Amino acid sequence: MKLVINTKAILWVAFFTALTSPILVSAAPPDATAGKLKAQTCFACHGENGISISSDIPNLAAQPPLSITYQLIQFRGQQRKGGAMEALAASLSDQDMRDIAAYYSALPAPPAKPGDVDKIAKGQQIASTQYCNSCHGSQLQGQKHIARLSGQSPEYIITQLKNIRSGARIDMDGTMGSAARGLSDQDIEALAAYAASLN
Ligand code: HEC
Ligand code: HEC
Repeated sequence: MKLVINTKAILWVAFFTALTSPILVSAAPPDATAGKLKAQTCFACHGENGISISSDIPNLAAQPPLSITYQLIQFRGQQRKGGAMEALAASLSDQDMRDIAAYYSALPAPPAKPGDVDKIAKGQQIASTQYCNSCHGSQLQGQKHIARLSGQSPEYIITQLKNIRSGARIDMDGTMGSAARGLSDQDIEALAAYAASLN
């Protein structure tokens, strides 16, 4: 088991290094204006402002660009499946992904969502004891390849955490799988309410 995870991690690192290294690929810098044009087909679900049209679709506004790019690569490679995203990502080039990520990441963050005060307080406590902040940022705003959770739809977060916990959604290096494994359904609901309540 350990060996499998390590091999996967090494493959991801190698793949990502190749993708981002200017020596190996002569990539143009990410272009948010081009990204907006390329994202027209995405607006129907994720919104032109990066705020999605329904609670089962993630907000993309202010997501770290690397996180958006990583997830699109996983959909294109069919390592991650969900919604119609595998089909939608299939025709995107690496440059398309970087441009679209530049567009969405530069948009204003989604507004904080009010929720059950006790649930939110419990979620904050779990986030601190489980070190969610150490990877997702002090305000769960995301960083590098790690998703923004603040202002995200709670329904979406609940679904993803359950899928990551069960292994239905694989994660690139196994770290998020380990983080989700010990969470109960109640923990997950509290964490989702807490994350959604942040801006
Ligand atoms: C028909 C609706 C629909 C359209 C159109 C659509 N998406 Fe999605 N997208 C979804 C759904 C639903 C999910 C969540 C999938 C899941 O359940 O894991 C998602 C997930 C994502 C994610 C993962 C976000 C995260 O936080 O992990 C990214 C990135 C994304 N979409 C980008 C795009 C881009 C770029 C386009 C346009 C090329 C696009 N989507 C078009 C419905 C859509
Ligand atoms: C060691 C670093 C690390 C820790 C700790 C961690 N995460 Fe993550 N998290 C990640 C990474 C990396 C991903 C992206 C996984 C992938 O798709 O490959 C992720 C993805 C997620 C997602 C999916 C987001 C989306 O937009 O689809 C959620 C939800 C999430 N984490 C919640 C949490 C919560 C809640 C905690 C604390 C219990 C936590 N994470 C702890 C690294 C971490």
